[in-house]
Amino acid sequence: MKLAKYLKPYWLCALLSPLCMLGEVLIDLLQPKLMSKIVNDGVLGNNMHLIISTGLLMLLLVAVGGVAGAAASGFAGTASQKFGNDLRKDAFSKVMNLSFQQTDKFTTGSLVTRLTNDISMTQDFVAQALRIFVRAPITFIGGIIMALSLNAKFGIVLICALPVQLLILAILLFKAAPMFSIVQKKLDKVNSVTQENVSGARTVKAFLREDYETKRFNVANDELVNTNIKVQKILTLIMPLLMIIMNLSVIAVIYIGGYQTEAREMQAGDVMAAVTYITQILMSLMMVGMMFQSISRAKASAARIVEVLNTTPCILSGSYRDDAASAEIEFKNVSFFYPGHSGSPILNNISFTVKPGEKIAILGSTGSGKSSLVNLIPRFYDCTDGEVLFNGVDVKQYDLENLRSKIGFALQKSELFTGTISDNIRWGLPNATDEEVVNAAKIAQADDFITSFNDGYDTVIEEKGSSLSGGQKQRISIARAIIRHPSLIIFDDSASALDLGTESRLQKALAENLGDITTITIAQRIASVMNSDRILVLENGSIVANGSHEELLKTSKVYADIYDSQTKNANSQKGADING
Ligand SMILES: Nc1ncnc2c1ncn2[C@@H]1O[C@H](COP(=O)(O)OP(=O)(O)OP(=O)(O)O)[C@@H](O)[C@H]1O
Ligand SMILES: [Mg+2]
Repeated sequence: MKLAKYLKPYWLCALLSPLCMLGEVLIDLLQPKLMSKIVNDGVLGNNMHLIISTGLLMLLLVAVGGVAGAAASGFAGTASQKFGNDLRKDAFSKVMNLSFQQTDKFTTGSLVTRLTNDISMTQDFVAQALRIFVRAPITFIGGIIMALSLNAKFGIVLICALPVQLLILAILLFKAAPMFSIVQKKLDKVNSVTQENVSGARTVKAFLREDYETKRFNVANDELVNTNIKVQKILTLIMPLLMIIMNLSVIAVIYIGGYQTEAREMQAGDVMAAVTYITQILMSLMMVGMMFQSISRAKASAARIVEVLNTTPCILSGSYRDDAASAEIEFKNVSFFYPGHSGSPILNNISFTVKPGEKIAILGSTGSGKSSLVNLIPRFYDCTDGEVLFNGVDVKQYDLENLRSKIGFALQKSELFTGTISDNIRWGLPNATDEEVVNAAKIAQADDFITSFNDGYDTVIEEKGSSLSGGQKQRISIARAIIRHPSLIIFDDSASALDLGTESRLQKALAENLGDITTITIAQRIASVMNSDRILVLENGSIVANGSHEELLKTSKVYADIYDSQTKNANSQKGADING
């Protein structure tokens, strides 16, 4: 198995555990023999001294066996915990490195199951394997040797019982094995629904969709439970069937033993020992059954983890680095569609240049491809055709870290993380001083509302920023982008929740402070873009106009139409902004 290498660093524990187990098993195999000695020579031979001394020896062995067993569990536990820990770390960093199209494909719910439940399954398997995989075969073989050494006739019982028992195990496990991976898939589904609903709880409540979503959850949950019950039904059959065979075998042993003692070929103590050995042998077979069960369970889980580990990020880092403080962007005949989504391309033969320090804006109706376009610059996705150049070099050749460190990005959906406000702004530049944090917040027009909070910059933001308004979140993510001192800043509709007054103050502050930084601003409102050096108008993935506000008013019908529609509604728009 590919995951075995994760156990390698802990080979000492992984080796000591089966060794200790071996000790315990050998002692277990010795006990019935001693017992029979007590019965044969002690009780029947009336030798009190022998009974006491052998009894004491047995007690001592039990103690030693107990210690060995505990040590075996301890070592196995340590090895498997560390194995799981390393595996989880690796899988997590793998997930962090996957590109969006890959995480989209796995789905968040499934990735969470794989990183938690599936890894726990393999971890449990390791702990079990280190002990049972030694215990079962040794008890099995040792038991057979001991039983036959008492009397070869017991072999008959084994020859009859073992094949039947093996057959039952094989049939049932063969049926159960494929269901284990189905169980994990159903668990994925439950996790996905749970995740979506917990993080979207507000929307669910607002639309009174609790009943609908609860039903959806119940369906997923029922499916999981039903599959689990099916598996359990099969597995619970194993135990009683094997017990029947075991009891029949014990009866056979006593029967054969009875004849043998009568014929004076063996003694009563030997029959007792034989019963114990036969039980041990058949029990060890049952353990083998359990072993196979956990193997197929762990196999299903391991395959799912390996699938994650084996996914090579489809966006690979290049090696080119540049330390230029300025940024020039060029799109050369760029076309793009989302991987796996065929049909007409989202971006169609886009070409334009943004000079160092230039402020350009992208305007376009919703769904026209604005976000998709800017996502190509930090390589959140790779373009399908053409080239995106950063300072004259294809972004695909850049060292990813170098490339992304040059870009300050305020995403369309501002995502904040649990922590204080200043922590969140510092995300952009981890070693920023308090002064830099305040300064960035001032430019982003966030200082006022932050200082109005009791704890100011130390105000703790709840999960995902649920304690802030939409516009407040946007301004914090703008501050987070600014503090990076990037050479390119991208604002993806990141002032959409601000009223016009705040937005114009923001624009003014940006113009004063980010003079030499190349800036791409995406917006829906003409008021947000008219002061830009140049405006690109995007429609259905194509650039239909490119020029300054004044030029476009004269040359572009689309732009003039948008302008008219927005200025006509300007008064009502203002009213809406103030109220909103
Ligand atoms: N991850 C994705 N996978 C597949 N299709 C996508 C994905 N993201 C966006 N799209 C599609 O790409 C098109 C352009 O989306 P995009 O987000 O770029 O539009 P936009 O101009 O930013 O719109 P908005 O103003 O609403 O933000 C849409 O038709 C959308 O359905
Ligand atoms: Mg968008």
